[in-house]
Amino acid sequence: MAKDKKLIVANFKMNLNMHETSLYVKELADMVKVHRDVEVVLAPTTLTLQSLSLQVNHRQFKLAVQNFYWRDSGAFTGEVSAPQLRGIAQYALVGHSERRHIFHEHEKDIRAKVQAAVRNDIRPILCVGETASERAEGETHSVLHDQLIGGLINITSEDLEKVVIAYEPVWAIGTGRNAMPSDVTAAIRAIRNQIKHLYGAAHAESVQVLYGGSVKAESAADYLALSDVDGLLVGGASLDARAFTEIINKAHKAS
Ligand code: PGA
Repeated sequence: MAKDKKLIVANFKMNLNMHETSLYVKELADMVKVHRDVEVVLAPTTLTLQSLSLQVNHRQFKLAVQNFYWRDSGAFTGEVSAPQLRGIAQYALVGHSERRHIFHEHEKDIRAKVQAAVRNDIRPILCVGETASERAEGETHSVLHDQLIGGLINITSEDLEKVVIAYEPVWAIGTGRNAMPSDVTAAIRAIRNQIKHLYGAAHAESVQVLYGGSVKAESAADYLALSDVDGLLVGGASLDARAFTEIINKAHKAS
């Protein structure tokens, strides 16, 4: 996807049942205009992906899975694989802090998921970010370094073009605590520096990096105005159709 497109991702998390999701997406579809400079991605409950893939206008909305297992098939009760999602989800969240901290996903799971997504033509959105205590200890950049190395270790420079990175400071997720735009810029520069180290300057420039963490309609423009920010990952505010539409419109204006 071209860098001149802002990527706006809605993470519904474990909210809305199938019926509610369908109604919500209908409501959103009536409000959201298709802009050539904005790609809107919805990550609803996995249950609804298949029906939404028939419901949505794919120029208006792309779909993302919130989680999946990295093996292709086999005796893994309760899991969904990337090949099963192929053609239904165009994106996948990987390494979200709730997966890392609540479900104890390790770097080896995360890197296997990044690879499985890429292998199945699904663009992984690799989430990285420090906790409040890591931040207080001044460890933000080393955490980002380790999570990037951990997640991307088997990814070639050709595959990197399919990967999106989301900087999500854990202390800002779902807390209403806004990261300062200057802190976001510093963290995303550190991410691009690490990519430069691993893949070279051209990739550091071209890799898409999003910001996420308590983004609201009121704060979206401040982040989108940052030249290093290529889009937003929105949790709570994406459950309000009006607020989310406003965020999308701000991305259009920011491009
Ligand atoms: P939030 O969630 O916008 O509710 O902080 C962001 C996320 O979890 O990706």
